[in-house]
Amino acid sequence: MTIKQKSFGDGDEYMLRFGTSILLSVGARAAALSLAVCAFALAQAHSGAKRIAVPPPPMGWSSWNSFSNIVDSQIIQEQARAMISTGMAKAGYQYVNIDEGWWLGERDADGHFVIDAKAWPALAAGEHAGDMSNIVRYIHGLGLKAGIYTDAGKDGCSLYPDLGPVHEHVGSEGHYEQDFLQFAQWGFDYVKVDWCGGDKEKLDPAVQYAEIGRAIAKAEAATGHPLYFSLCEWGNNSPWTWAPNIGGAPADVWRTSGDIVAPIVPHREHSGRLASFPGVLSNFDQGIHPEAEHTGFYNDPDMMVVGMPGLTDAQNRVHMSLWAISAAPLLVGADLTTLSEATRATLTNAEVLAVDQDALGLQGVKVSSPGDGLEVWSKALAAPGERAVLLLNRSGDAAQITAKWSDLGLEDSSATVRDVWSHKDAGAFSSSYSATVASNDAVMVIVRGHESKLREYRALRADMDKSRETDFAQVSSHAAMARVRITYTNSSSAPAYAELRTNGHIATRVAFPPTGNTPGAVWIQAPLDRAGDGNVLGFVAIGDAGPAIESIAVQ
Ligand code: GLA
Repeated sequence: MTIKQKSFGDGDEYMLRFGTSILLSVGARAAALSLAVCAFALAQAHSGAKRIAVPPPPMGWSSWNSFSNIVDSQIIQEQARAMISTGMAKAGYQYVNIDEGWWLGERDADGHFVIDAKAWPALAAGEHAGDMSNIVRYIHGLGLKAGIYTDAGKDGCSLYPDLGPVHEHVGSEGHYEQDFLQFAQWGFDYVKVDWCGGDKEKLDPAVQYAEIGRAIAKAEAATGHPLYFSLCEWGNNSPWTWAPNIGGAPADVWRTSGDIVAPIVPHREHSGRLASFPGVLSNFDQGIHPEAEHTGFYNDPDMMVVGMPGLTDAQNRVHMSLWAISAAPLLVGADLTTLSEATRATLTNAEVLAVDQDALGLQGVKVSSPGDGLEVWSKALAAPGERAVLLLNRSGDAAQITAKWSDLGLEDSSATVRDVWSHKDAGAFSSSYSATVASNDAVMVIVRGHESKLREYRALRADMDKSRETDFAQVSSHAAMARVRITYTNSSSAPAYAELRTNGHIATRVAFPPTGNTPGAVWIQAPLDRAGDGNVLGFVAIGDAGPAIESIAVQ
């Protein structure tokens, strides 16, 4: 149903077409769908709708990579202090996450955790040993946030310990509500939920993690304390197809692969292990699912191994660039008390961190592969016309790699280029930028140019807030993984959610944060993989308070 097209010719030019919309009254989904009247008209695109910021990926440190299951209060205090003294906290790192090993599987008669009092002593007057709220208070006292860890099954990964004896029953199954309430009561801000026990029992992760998401929501409601949800199922069951907004989570991350490297603990067994650059690249590749990464939901390619044995300074910079371009959670695995100056500088590079934390919340996508092992990755940033661009050379020889503006969704007109590692402006370029990239290295730049045209499709309904479904048909795009701006209104004080199905693909759940009474916009990336205008995007509101979706604009 191609209607009309018009150019507005002001550099922010839109071609307008109108999609179909289907109305369905609240509470009457079983009743026949009533088709809205489809009127067609031309209207100025809502280029002015304010962009609504979405939660950025989490930044912090995790105990696993450098301390395995010997983690205790002393280690956590030292790492928390180092997060401040290294300047990492100032750069934006905030979570101090306690991974496996803090609890050895014992519960009291009421099912409450029994904690090793020696490992987790009192830290201040009036505190009791064996109470995890002690370490939380310590971390909070430094202005940081605290993370904790459990397993979705009855057992946890301590069944297969990296160091020390086997511990059984180190999981939360059968105690979800009790355990997540306890984490919130202790004051934790973040919880990672592993899958060793779930895997052993052959549980369905989509079911278990949804139940855990609901237990977290209940704990949050009971305590008023938010708990950020991190799923760790290693990508075995395609969590990107079910993990966004699982159990109603307003923001969450899900692992997309196994561990880059098993823990490297100095002076302990396996202390000679090395992280490897191919391992970093492999986890990066497995973490690319841009259709699921939007509005506060993120693929997690694992804690970083930047600064750990096995990687050179140059490889550490590439690793950091890969995590930043993919908007991955930035959880450092290295021992913060022994960081080299080069590692510290890599981890705290503000221009690189800004790429990762950009308020659009989108994952970088590979936009071209100009030669064997040569790749151009582009991440759209919140400022119109801005892209973070990674020129990645996986080949054995140095090579020139060119990023073309047309591949980035930018007009062929003057755009400036800034190198985020050398902190130098490279100048202005009219249609592309080329750099020589060493073998197994990368160059990361910010390109500031002009957006190419968006096509806008409007839902034609007066009473959109009563609708549950909004469909946009006959949508076309130049890119197989298209950028889509969704203009909507959510005048409530809580995020609304809708399921979006693009073409025949598995649906993803999109968050629509409050906008106030005037429309706002969030961005997603959608696989518009049908030729011409054969693409269909269908939104179905979740719950009664769906967002009023007014239009989409596609690049
Ligand atoms: C799994 C996870 C790791 C870590 C360990 C703890 O391997 O993938 O990140 O949490 O368990 O045993």
